[in-house]
Amino acid sequence: MIVPQHISIIMDGNGRWAKQRGLERVQGHMEGVKSVRAVTEKCVELGVKYLSLYAFSEENWNRPGEEVSALMSLLAKCMINEYNTLMDNGVRFRVLGNRSRLAPELDEAITKLEKATENNPNTTMLIMLSYSGKWDIMQAARKLAETCKPEEITMEAIDNALVTAGVPDPELLIRTSGEQRISNYMLWQTAYTEFVFTDTLWPDFRKDSLVAAIEEYSRRDRRFGKVK
Ligand code: FPP
Repeated sequence: MIVPQHISIIMDGNGRWAKQRGLERVQGHMEGVKSVRAVTEKCVELGVKYLSLYAFSEENWNRPGEEVSALMSLLAKCMINEYNTLMDNGVRFRVLGNRSRLAPELDEAITKLEKATENNPNTTMLIMLSYSGKWDIMQAARKLAETCKPEEITMEAIDNALVTAGVPDPELLIRTSGEQRISNYMLWQTAYTEFVFTDTLWPDFRKDSLVAAIEEYSRRDRRFGKVK
């Protein structure tokens, strides 16, 4: 099995998982947190350097207010409850996205957890929050417009202006719940990423599902536009 350096996941299907069981949507998100924990532990065990997770898109702000606040308070709770698990597993925690839209208390709790885990040596977990691919490219373009001459705007300069600066592009992107689209996720960074789609709903996606996705990735023939 070839283990990627960077695995990214569009975690989808929490709402449907809850609906199938006659539960509230937020209960699907709560069960989804258990999958986040399981998948992170497996990444540590396998030596995956980066695990990025699409937790909340810029478009998700348009969901009913009740669900947005339920998700935000679930995240705030995770900042407190997951501290020990992150430390025990040596996981570095970071949040990337349009942080200016987050409540100041949540943003502060995130910064605190980022600082507390910054020297952890194992997997770096990147929570993509209030993130969208087009927004990322736009904020990078604005930054470069302020600091660069046109000829200085190289591919590398763009890489370094994105919120994922310094993180290698994901070799594998997994999307759960049967949807087969990119949904304004990492548009620039997935130019040569292998996509694995699974019908499994996110709350049911656990360690064995991750291994199955990595096995599928291992069977792919990556040519990067060249002839082998
Ligand atoms: C997609 O399911 C999932 C989300 C929009 C949120 C993902 C959040 C979590 C798993 C919980 C917190 C995360 C972390 C990183 C601790 P959906 O609601 O779109 O499901 P549906 O398509 O079935 O309605």
